[in-house]
Amino acid sequence: MKKIAIFASGSGSNFQAIVDAIQGGQLAAEVSLLVCDRPGAFVLERAERYSIPTISVAPKNYPSKLEYELDILKELRAREIDFIVLAGYMRLIGTTLLNEFEGRIVNIHPSLLPAFPGKDAIGQAITAKVQVSGVTIHFVDEGMDTGPIIEQREIPLTEDETKETLQKKIHHIEHQLYPETLQRLFTTLK
Ligand code: GAR
Repeated sequence: MKKIAIFASGSGSNFQAIVDAIQGGQLAAEVSLLVCDRPGAFVLERAERYSIPTISVAPKNYPSKLEYELDILKELRAREIDFIVLAGYMRLIGTTLLNEFEGRIVNIHPSLLPAFPGKDAIGQAITAKVQVSGVTIHFVDEGMDTGPIIEQREIPLTEDETKETLQKKIHHIEHQLYPETLQRLFTTLK
């Protein structure tokens, strides 16, 4: 059974979907740790509800990214984490974690990458007036949403699509696709 650490910065609806899938028997994994870089984020409350251990680390309290990630790494090693799952973690992963978890960090992004990387991918898609956007799950490398793609799902946009309506559609897909894809990954990558 894979021991995963979820990294999140915000509301944590994807964190919730993963926990629900584990509890419902669709995903064989254990969420052994939540790493949150935004003290006060709602995802911390969600983790508390399930007694999932959390660390809340504010990068501004560290002299460098190296020291920030070394602190996280200490916790990941202590809990023998196998896999890192980014779920709305709005920060680039540095070499400290990339080297230790090579090929074992995945991310979900609300667009059809390589279109609309970075922040506010949903807003970018609305502004560009595309007819189709979607969701991508990919391995993480040092770039911004650039690693090898594992899974993508298209979502058609209506003519009157807004950021809010698209976000709702995207979340709906993400909450099914992320647990499903993780389960497939964990059974193939022994
Ligand atoms: C998700 O839609 C995820 O795809 C996106 O943040 C949202 C987090 O929502 N991630 C990125 O934009 C990463 N570049 P959540 O906190 O409700 O899971």
